[in-house]
Parts: sequence; C-alpha cells; structure tokens
Amino acid sequence: MTKLVQHFLTLDDLSPSTLQGLIDRAIELKAITKQGAIYQPLKNKTLAMIFSKASTRTRVSFEVGMRQLGGGSINLNPNDTQIGRGEPIEDTARVISSMADGIMIRTDAHRQVETLAAHSSVPVINGLTDDYHPCQLLADIQTFQELRGSVKGATFAWIGDGNNVCNTFISAARIFDFHLNIATPKGYQPSTEIVERSSASITLCGDAKAAVENADVVVTDTWASMGQEDEKKQREAAFADFCVDDALMSKANNDAIFLHCLPAYRGIEVSASVIDGPQSAVFQEAENRLHAQKALLEYLLS
Ligand code: CP
Ligand code: NVA
Repeated sequence: MTKLVQHFLTLDDLSPSTLQGLIDRAIELKAITKQGAIYQPLKNKTLAMIFSKASTRTRVSFEVGMRQLGGGSINLNPNDTQIGRGEPIEDTARVISSMADGIMIRTDAHRQVETLAAHSSVPVINGLTDDYHPCQLLADIQTFQELRGSVKGATFAWIGDGNNVCNTFISAARIFDFHLNIATPKGYQPSTEIVERSSASITLCGDAKAAVENADVVVTDTWASMGQEDEKKQREAAFADFCVDDALMSKANNDAIFLHCLPAYRGIEVSASVIDGPQSAVFQEAENRLHAQKALLEYLLS
C-alpha cells in the first residue's frame, strides 16, 4: 500500500499517551452528548462494519457513534457479501477502503484482521477477534477512571477464562500501569507469549480467592466464547471454582468494582447477586463502549 494508515488492531497500535488521551476524550464526549450538544466532525464519513460473529454492544455503539459524529455506517454480514463466497480478504480490503473511510471488523482469526489492515487504505478497527478485544478495554479503563480516578497503581483481578478479553487486559496492565492478578483453571491460561510480554504487570494465580485479595476491580467474562459453544458443558465443569459470587467479592477490597464485558450468564460465571448488585458497573461499562469508540473514531477518521 502507498500511504501509512493508523489502524487499531491491538492496544499496542497506539502509544500509552494516545490511549490515555482517548480515555480522557471519551469522558468529554460523553459529557457533550449528555448535554444534548451536536458535535459532528465526521460529516459524510462512512464506517463499513464486517461482523462474522454476533454482536449487540459493538454493533450498536459503532453505528450510533458514527451517527452522533455526523457520519454513517454500513453493516456487512459475510454471508450476504462476497466475503462469504470466498473473495480474498486482500481484494475485499482494497475495494471497501476505496469507498468507506474506516473499516470495523469482528471475526475469529486475528491474522485475518491483520491481512485486512495490510491491504486497506483506511483505518481498520478490531471489533473482537479470538485473540483480542481492544475496544472493550477502552470502555473498561474509562469506567474505572470515572468511578475511581486513574488506573495507575490499581489492582485488577481477572477470574475465569484466559480468553481474548483477558489477553487485552494483560496488555492494558502493562500500558496503563496497573497490576493484574489472573486466576484461571489449568489448561485455560492465557497464551505464554502474551503473558511474557507483560510479565512485570501480572501475577498468575491458580486460585480465585488469592487473585481477588486487595483487588480494586474484579472482572470476568463468559466461560465459553463465541466459537466454543460445543465446549460449554466441559468448561462449566472445569471452571466450577471460578464463579464470581458474593463469597468471592467479599475477599476483594470493600469498594471493589465488578466488571464484565457482557453478554453475561447469571449463575454460571457470575451470580445474579453480584452482577445486579451495588458493586457492579457493567451497564456503565457497556454504555462507555459508545463514548470510548467515538473518541477512537474521531481520532482515526477525522
Ligand atoms: N462486549 C461486547 O463486545 O459485546 P457484543 O458481543 O454484544 O458486541
Ligand atoms: N470472550 C467473549 C467476549 C464477547 C464480547 C467472546 O469472544 O465471545
């Protein structure tokens, strides 16, 4: 490709100060929206959104975000486009980026998103892959900052699967300078390569109770991510000691916040009493997807 384009495939695509700037801007944009002010820096811009996997929050937040910023979006389902019939991702990237101003993609293999970005002349945003979910972390850091101030020096506890969201939390701990305790069952740890890169910022614990000790945030996610539906039963057995319930929350700091990217399964990875209880910030976290991504869209597309 001829020109250098800024993509957002992982948190490491942007500098720590740029990422912190996006969080601060997200909080400002949220205030602007709540005041009812019109702010449209992306007039006539279009975001093409490719969803190979289901989504509620990512889809709605990008679509509403583009609209609020004065632009628009188109939703592309691989099965209704030539992507589903085997058109090479390289050609797809060249064609879509010749018309749209940005591409958001949610798919399985992270490699696919890298290939799309390598052949796109406009910014590509990762809306979740099997390996990473960077947009989610923008919203999560924003939520903590709104409730407790800077994440610097805070302790987060990840309980459950060493999945795409966990991987992104690991990078976030290194970048935003907080500590992350991770408790997963054996065989479900995050990948060694990802852990090694951030080893100074994380502690791997075999036990959920040890992980939540002194934690300012307790965070979990589904035990069976999209694409792992067949493993549900086996995973429920393996993760039985990793449910975030009142007993576990009581071992964290008294004012600890509970986060979950959603969708959540009450009575499986989290009890209803925790996710619907006073320490839960999951709906603020979900709403912040909109504000954080508006900051990202403003940065990448304007
Ligand atoms: N948290 C999240 O990405 O939600 P969706 O799958 O609904 O987009
Ligand atoms: N880990 C989950 C996150 C969903 C937003 C998944 O990949 O399905």
